[in-house]
Formats: sequence, C-alpha cells, structure tokens
Amino acid sequence: MTPDRHRVLVTGAAGSIATAFVRATADEYEFTLLDLPGTLDAEQRALGSVVEVDLADISNLRGVMDGIDTVLHLAGQRSPSTLWEDLLPANIVGTYNVVAAAVAAKVPRVIYASSVHTVTGYTDGQIRESDPVQPDDLYGVTKCFGEALGAFAVSAEDLRSFVALRIGAFQDPAKLAAPDAGWMLRDYLAPDDFVDMLGLLITSDRQGFDIYNATSANRFGRLSMTKAAEELGFVPRSDAFAIASPFATAIAEVGGLDDRPALSGMRADVARLRGH
Ligand SMILES: NC(=O)c1ccc[n+]([C@@H]2O[C@H](COP(=O)([O-])OP(=O)(O)OC[C@H]3O[C@@H](n4cnc5c(N)ncnc54)[C@H](O)[C@@H]3O)[C@@H](O)[C@H]2O)c1
Repeated sequence: MTPDRHRVLVTGAAGSIATAFVRATADEYEFTLLDLPGTLDAEQRALGSVVEVDLADISNLRGVMDGIDTVLHLAGQRSPSTLWEDLLPANIVGTYNVVAAAVAAKVPRVIYASSVHTVTGYTDGQIRESDPVQPDDLYGVTKCFGEALGAFAVSAEDLRSFVALRIGAFQDPAKLAAPDAGWMLRDYLAPDDFVDMLGLLITSDRQGFDIYNATSANRFGRLSMTKAAEELGFVPRSDAFAIASPFATAIAEVGGLDDRPALSGMRADVARLRGH
C-alpha cells in the first residue's frame, strides 16, 4: 500500500453497494471496512483493514476513525418496509454515532447514504434536492434524520463536509431484464455510475452541507440529476429505459428516442414513414 492514498472508512462494508464500490476502487483508496461481526466474507476482508462492530454502541467507535479522510456511511437497514424497532438502532442511533465519531476524530468529510425515500411522498413531477422532504414510510423518515444531522454537524459541530446522496435503486443491470423490474426504472442507479459519482465526491474540495440526487440517466427519472451535473460534473451513462425490456425494444424500433415527449409524440409514425 502506498502511504499517501486517501483513507476511506466504509460502514456497511459487507453490503451490496459497499462491495461493488470497494471492489472497483481497491487500488485507488486505502480502505477500512466496518460491518457487524461475521458479515464480511474472505474476498471483502482482503481489500482493507477490517473493523467488526455494531454501530449502535458508540463505545465501539473509539479510535476507529483516527487518520480517516472520508467516511462513507452506508450501514443501515435498507428496506422501506423495515419496522421502527429495527430502524431505530441501525438508521438513527448508528448514524448519530458515526457522525459523532467523525466529528471527534476531525474527519473532514462524511458521505451519507440517504435515499429517494426522503421524497417518495410526491406523486408527480421531477424532484430536485431543494424540494421539501416528503417521505412516505418510516425508512424515509430515518434518512431525513440523517440529512438533518449532517446539516447540524456542519453548522454547529465543525464537520467540514457532509454530503447526503439520495440513492435511487442500486441494482445490477442484469436485474432490469426481469419481468417485474418496472418498479425500479425511474430510480435506477447503475453500479458503474455510482462508482463514478463517489469518486468525484471523495476527491472533491467542496465544503459544507450538500444533498445530491443519485440515479442514472433514466429518461423518465423521478429525481432531477441537474445539480450533480452542474456542481460535480457527474454525467451518468446508463438509462434503465434503454436497457429494460420491453422499453428497449420499443426504443430500438423507433430508432432511438432522446427526450420525454418522444414516446407520446409522433416519433414512431415518423420512423415508419421514413421506412425504419
Ligand atoms: N440498495 C439500494 O438500492 C439503496 C437505495 C437507497 C438507499 N440505500 C442505502 O444505502 C445503504 C447501503 O445499501 P445496501 O444496498 O448496500 O444495503 P445492504 O443491506 O446490502 O448493506 C447494509 C450493511 O449495513 C450493515 N449494518 C446494518 N446495521 C449495522 C450496524 N448496526 N452496525 C454495523 N453494520 C450494520 C449490514 O450488516 C449490511 O452489511 C443503506 O443505508 C441503504 O439504506 C440503498
């Protein structure tokens, strides 16, 4: 290991997002991988230093963040149907403990896995980061707590940077072929795109409190990706509607669609009249 690599502590390191990110960037960063005892497999353990603790007990975090440059806080209950009794220790207490430990160790930046569920109460329109939160489940409420805690830590506790990412549906692209994949298309986040976005954030010099939507370039996306493009230069590449059947078939038939009115417009007839 080269000594000057950026030191990243990843919580929830055995989870799906952490595994994809650490595997893709193991050569770039010096990782500390934190998860519950017994959750990290042999392949994951080989990619960094390992800390096996429950985040719900703050005494477990003493010294863990010393010398860390960025905390990537992914640990938590991720299902929107999780009961309150399980959300409380993982998503509320655990997130508080992570942020408090980061402040105590003077870690410059915390990147926090928030969720589209902070705003799934909206029934229409494209949602920007500046719109008020509107969760429609308690899971989403816990993610609103994490965002508010980050804003507080920046303004009142001298945390230099807290970035909340409103993650959509992080899934392997192969899952888009499933017949029941429709629920995820608007919010789809391809692993490659998210690895790119995290890389931009880890190396960014932004300070203060930020929220960014985090999805791929889905043509009917629920979350606006304009802010991430303008402020981070994040240009996602995947479009779930171009990957998922039967949308991909329909799009291929009309020679490629590039904007929202296209599906309800005259493109299909124009393509037929042109003999495509
Ligand atoms: N996967 C998605 O599509 C998605 C979408 C929006 C937000 N998110 C958020 O991103 C984060 C990561 O998602 P994921 O899909 O990788 O989840 P995951 O369930 O695969 O991984 C979460 C990890 O957190 C660990 N963990 C839970 N409680 C812990 C505790 N008390 N102490 C230590 N570790 C603990 C688990 O053991 C697990 O390995 C979660 O916070 C989730 O809410 C995920």
